[in-house]
Amino acid sequence: MIALGIEGTAHTIGVGIVEDLNDKCRVLANIIKMYKPAEGGIHPRDAANHHATHLPHLVTKAIESAKIDEREIDVIAFSKGPGMGPCLRTAATAARALALYLEKPLVGVNHCVAHLEIGRGTTGCEDPVLLYVSGGNTQIIAFAKGKYRVFGETLDIGIGNCLDKLGRYLNLPFPSGPIIEKLAKRGKKYLDLPYTIKGMDVAFSGLLTSAQKYYEKGERIEDICYSVQETAFSALTEVTERAMAHVGKEEVLLGGGVASNERLREMIKKMAEERGAKFFVPEKSLCIDNGAMIAWTGLLMYRCGITTKVEDSFIDQRFRTDDVIVKWRE
Ligand code: ATP
Ligand code: FE2
Repeated sequence: MIALGIEGTAHTIGVGIVEDLNDKCRVLANIIKMYKPAEGGIHPRDAANHHATHLPHLVTKAIESAKIDEREIDVIAFSKGPGMGPCLRTAATAARALALYLEKPLVGVNHCVAHLEIGRGTTGCEDPVLLYVSGGNTQIIAFAKGKYRVFGETLDIGIGNCLDKLGRYLNLPFPSGPIIEKLAKRGKKYLDLPYTIKGMDVAFSGLLTSAQKYYEKGERIEDICYSVQETAFSALTEVTERAMAHVGKEEVLLGGGVASNERLREMIKKMAEERGAKFFVPEKSLCIDNGAMIAWTGLLMYRCGITTKVEDSFIDQRFRTDDVIVKWRE
């Protein structure tokens, strides 16, 4: 079975094509294009215009590079939410048009669930605790009683957003996460920062404010980046470990753009090893927002009979992870 997926929840527009091989995901094509604001944060309408401009070309290119005939596609999936309204509507409109044109079924996919499923589909893990760390989201998710449940999350901003905001303050380009990672490698001095955990939840805005104050006081950028990473990632590691103990799972999976970070990977891997648990992370192109993860989740849903009628294919900006009934894992 072959699925084409369109991702468009925020700054990235992506088209992916996947195939199922013995229950594992084979990625045939996965192309993304990222909107980068000239200055400041993401402007949803500008991002949506960007997506609309690039989508037709991305669809053609994805089908070409997958080396398939468009009639071989069995199902069209799209990111139904959560995300920014104008971006979601652009991706959904394209998916509807494509489904009608190819006369194929449509499936609306939860973006957060897709981050988890692509990990299960490509890394070999089966029943993990997912640490989902991106710009907009920071959640600890695990499967329990038919749904993916959020055991912990950020009480304010996402970790990626925290890094990007810090980057903007330090005059680094967007997205700042990867640049902060490089600078942090040259950090030598640990600067004390607030470490906020409540149960299995975390918070980052206090840490961000303190880091900004260190910059004003003239501390080295490298030391600030190093200290921010060490503090924030330790907090994330601690809550992930707590969730693993709580739900009794032996696998931990990373997902979301910040999962590209080598230091975070190292910390989570070490924690897993110390618990005798297994650590998994998808390849980087599948960690960031992408169409393949939407296609794969759509394929899993379609395989167990779930489709979305065109007239019901509205988007849901606040689509919650635990609103999805995970029929395909029964
Ligand atoms: P979502 O819609 O799931 O919230 P998103 O729109 O933030 O996702 P992603 O591509 O999942 O998109 O994540 C982007 C974030 O990842 C940005 O905040 C970026 O700074 C961060 N990021 C990317 N690479 C790294 C890295 N190596 N280290 C730290 N952060 C990173
Ligand atoms: Fe994402």
